[in-house]
Amino acid sequence: MDDAKIDVKQILNFEGFREARIVECEIIKLGANGDGLAVHRLHDLPEGSQERTNAIGSSRIEVLVVPFVVPGDKVKVKLYKAQTYYQLCDLVEIVEASPDRDDSLVNCQYFAKCSGCQFQMMPYDKQLLHKQKVIENAYKYFSQLPTDLVPAVDPCVASPLKYNYRTKLTPHFDVPRKKALTELPPIGFGMKGRSVVVDIEECSIGTPVINQGMKEQREIVKDKWASYKRGVTILLRENTSRAANDDVASESKACVTDPKQIITEFVNNYRFEFPAGSFFQNNNSILPLITDYVRNNLRLSAESTDGPKYLVDAYCGSGLFSITCSTGVESVIGVEISADSVRYAEINAKLNNVQNTKFIVGEAEKIFANSLTPANETSVILDPPRKGCDSVFLDQLITYLPKKIVYISCNVHSQ
Ligand SMILES: C[S@@+](CC[C@H](N)C(=O)[O-])C[C@H]1O[C@@H](n2cnc3c(N)ncnc32)[C@H](O)[C@@H]1O
Repeated sequence: MDDAKIDVKQILNFEGFREARIVECEIIKLGANGDGLAVHRLHDLPEGSQERTNAIGSSRIEVLVVPFVVPGDKVKVKLYKAQTYYQLCDLVEIVEASPDRDDSLVNCQYFAKCSGCQFQMMPYDKQLLHKQKVIENAYKYFSQLPTDLVPAVDPCVASPLKYNYRTKLTPHFDVPRKKALTELPPIGFGMKGRSVVVDIEECSIGTPVINQGMKEQREIVKDKWASYKRGVTILLRENTSRAANDDVASESKACVTDPKQIITEFVNNYRFEFPAGSFFQNNNSILPLITDYVRNNLRLSAESTDGPKYLVDAYCGSGLFSITCSTGVESVIGVEISADSVRYAEINAKLNNVQNTKFIVGEAEKIFANSLTPANETSVILDPPRKGCDSVFLDQLITYLPKKIVYISCNVHSQ
């Protein structure tokens, strides 16, 4: 796949949909979710008309939302769905490429059809700048902070692996309701903007072992597709084995498909076990950087003199941050809604010989139900699910007023 040179023009998300309005436009910027934004001038408003008096400009315009583009691209797009304030579009053709576009970087034959990736045509340093901008804008426009309190945002830290990093993938296929399949269905991931599955044989962001698992699972479905009565989501999760926690040379990997099977991941020689179907971060290559980053921000490094005495790890899962941040503090208390994950957090603490952690099952706010360590000596790690923390928890957190909060977010807009 590394050698693949993809002609983006050949795979644009265009064929197969009914005719709709096609227009040309220039992409002005990327929105927070990665789609491009363009303004399309429809027609001039009549001189002296009420419409023109009320309008900001002299023309009626529409905002177009276009996937798989970079600012500066001049493109032909097809409008397929009108929303209240904008039109969703398919990208039909790059009429004139932006200097920030480099299609030779695309290394997946499904790019611009599959909804899994957005930026393969953008140099990685530009992708990181875009992510930084998303965070800056979130603070600027949504935090309601006075301008002088809006913080500067540091440059994004790069992932060591740009491709072949995902240790978990869940390809799926659909079976029409109350109908039998008449042929092998497409097995893969959702098409951008449509509820249709794109048939995917290899995923350029999955690890090699996950891709081998995908190949094997596709063969199994091929053998028995006619027997499926409903759609199936296939779990592909990478399992790592080592003779000892720090014996990297002995490492071997396998793909697990049973959600209940217990698997292992290593992070900086810490060992984590958890059921294959439960939550664990999906890019193992960046976990040493993230856990070090969290530790440094909590001021837990050996040189720090102003670190906390105690830690709270809200939404602790199977203990990733509780355990990797446990040295240098007196105690860590983790809270997590999944009893199964808490069980594995306890197992993981033992596996890593960590003795100052305690885990409780419950909604994150349960942490405030018991007498908690003194707020001025306690820092909090927050790693909630995509929807963010709820107000019950946040209100109590604000009242508690810990020494420091380190927030790990997979969606800056949910806070
Ligand atoms: C993004 S994961 C983070 C897990 C862990 N920090 C890690 O990195 O492996 C979010 C976790 O929050 C848990 N969760 C979801 N809602 C919760 C709630 N209301 N209270 C506590 N935990 C919750 C989920 O079960 C999941 O394990």
